[in-house]
Amino acid sequence: MKILVTGGLGFIGSHTVVELQNQGFDVVIIDDLSNSSEDVLKGITAITNKTPEFEKLDLREKAKVQEFFKKHQDISGVIHFAASKAVGESVGNPLLYYENNINTLVYLLQELQQKSEASFIFSSSCTVYGQAEVMPITENASIQTAMSPYGNTKQIGEEIITDTAKVTNINAILLRYFNPIGAHPSAEIGELPLGVPQNLVPFITQTGFGLRQELSVFGGDYPTPDGTCIRDYIHVVDLAKAHVIAMQRLLEKKNLEKIEIFNLGTGTGSSVLEVIHSFEKVSGQKLPYKIVPRREGDVISAYANTDKANNVLGWTAQSTLDQAIESAWKWEQKVRS
Ligand code: UD1
Repeated sequence: MKILVTGGLGFIGSHTVVELQNQGFDVVIIDDLSNSSEDVLKGITAITNKTPEFEKLDLREKAKVQEFFKKHQDISGVIHFAASKAVGESVGNPLLYYENNINTLVYLLQELQQKSEASFIFSSSCTVYGQAEVMPITENASIQTAMSPYGNTKQIGEEIITDTAKVTNINAILLRYFNPIGAHPSAEIGELPLGVPQNLVPFITQTGFGLRQELSVFGGDYPTPDGTCIRDYIHVVDLAKAHVIAMQRLLEKKNLEKIEIFNLGTGTGSSVLEVIHSFEKVSGQKLPYKIVPRREGDVISAYANTDKANNVLGWTAQSTLDQAIESAWKWEQKVRS
């Protein structure tokens, strides 16, 4: 069966393409290369011995999307990663985010609703919960007003898919990721942030490599055991495997509802200092850092209740924080060598 992976050359997308191919799926990738490189295809091929089909395409070009689906009538399912994801940039340029993340979703769904049946998996985020009142966070926690246009595109995206699935032949799974980190253990693929990394782990590995002078820890006075924020860091390979399981569930019609939602995390919260210590342990070197004022928009704590993913989806994250950090460090060293 052939699966379309949009954004399939990006960080989570490329790892998912590997796991799909490992499970025998054929894959066609759409990517506009705005935040990725065609070289990623080589990494995917090195791991799986199979080169996925690839079309460079900007999903905002509706006519091209229509043409693509005419050409590829044999697509059984779609995993939709392609989106812009920089929170700060979205505040400064909201329309770019609404066009990139919302228009493109509508165009894809317009094509899928013409099929007799369609399976659709959407990259959502724990950001939809804002600062949840109860930890760990279940899928029933209330959705909070988004703190950025980026976060809003994830909420609106979920609503668009839900409204559409109700009245079409589309079945969908919305996957709410916690904090994806790490790289493939082969170090053939990993995260490649453009410019100065905004996310914690790539900033740490770049600092460890000497590309950055020191890490700024945003806030040391939060009401947490060590004063720094708590997140649920999940290995990207675990996350990728969840997508394959979710796609198989839809294709085998095992889903209980037309729209299902799963949190994808490890269930364990780690503080920023714990992540730093994990890096120091696996790399055997000290990481220069200083505590600076809080970053606007950060929630204090967010980690997943994984019961639904464990029991209903039949998926559990396997990797520890140390293993995930170790893979990120191995990747950083490979990329810079
Ligand atoms: C961020 C987004 C989230 C998005 C996710 C995608 C925000 C508020 N949230 O999650 O919506 O889905 O990225 O990957 O931007 N930290 C430092 N120093 C740094 C970088 C980060 O101390 O240089 C801290 C942050 O304060 C936070 C933790 O590390 O406590 C994780 O930060 P980050 O990796 O940026 O992820 P989130 O903010 O959780």
